[in-house]
Amino acid sequence: MIAPLARTAARAAARPAFARAFVASRGVHTLPELPYAYDALEPHISGEIMKLHHSKHHQTYVNGLNAAEEQYAKLQSAGADVSAVKEAIKLQSALKFNGGGHINHSLFWKNLAPASKEGGKLEAGPLKDTIERDFGSLENLKKELNAKTAAVQGSGWGWLGWNQATKKLEVVTTANQDPLLSHVPIIGIDIWEHAFYLQYKNVKPDYLNAIWNVINFKEAEARLKTVL
Ligand SMILES: [Fe+2]
Repeated sequence: MIAPLARTAARAAARPAFARAFVASRGVHTLPELPYAYDALEPHISGEIMKLHHSKHHQTYVNGLNAAEEQYAKLQSAGADVSAVKEAIKLQSALKFNGGGHINHSLFWKNLAPASKEGGKLEAGPLKDTIERDFGSLENLKKELNAKTAAVQGSGWGWLGWNQATKKLEVVTTANQDPLLSHVPIIGIDIWEHAFYLQYKNVKPDYLNAIWNVINFKEAEARLKTVL
């Protein structure tokens, strides 16, 4: 006979790791504070966009993630009821969408910095060296990342990511709010209309050209250093 504590531990071990993580963290996600004022990225990204994007859009992903995790946790205590399994399967898309939205936006805010501070400045160091090794120049990287991000159909993200297998920086895109899982994210660019439409309307290339003036390369380098 298995002691109750051992049974609980055995059940927990049998659950997928992601499910255990959701149970452990239900209802705890909060909107991170921006590391600068809403208008600090002007004229490249307007204060109006930043305020809506952060306080409304990102908050909605946080709320959706907390709600989905709470529901998921309830279903996990439903025992052998297969209808609970169906409900849990239905929740996967909400977890992916809202969880991805929270992960991506939390990364995105830190990815940006006012041009009057470190924004847009790529100093000598491992990031500059690696960009030049893998793309030839920063200008080449900008061209490739802008072109592939502008070509995302519908909503999504453009990324400079680190390929763990090839040990190289690569440009990749993800759809919707899918988080980048194939690579380690180094720089992420939000190409949802809510990120640029109020200022740039439908002209994605203008937004993509402007955002490089406020990319926080120091943050990107810190991420790269963790995998080099
Ligand atoms: Fe966004």
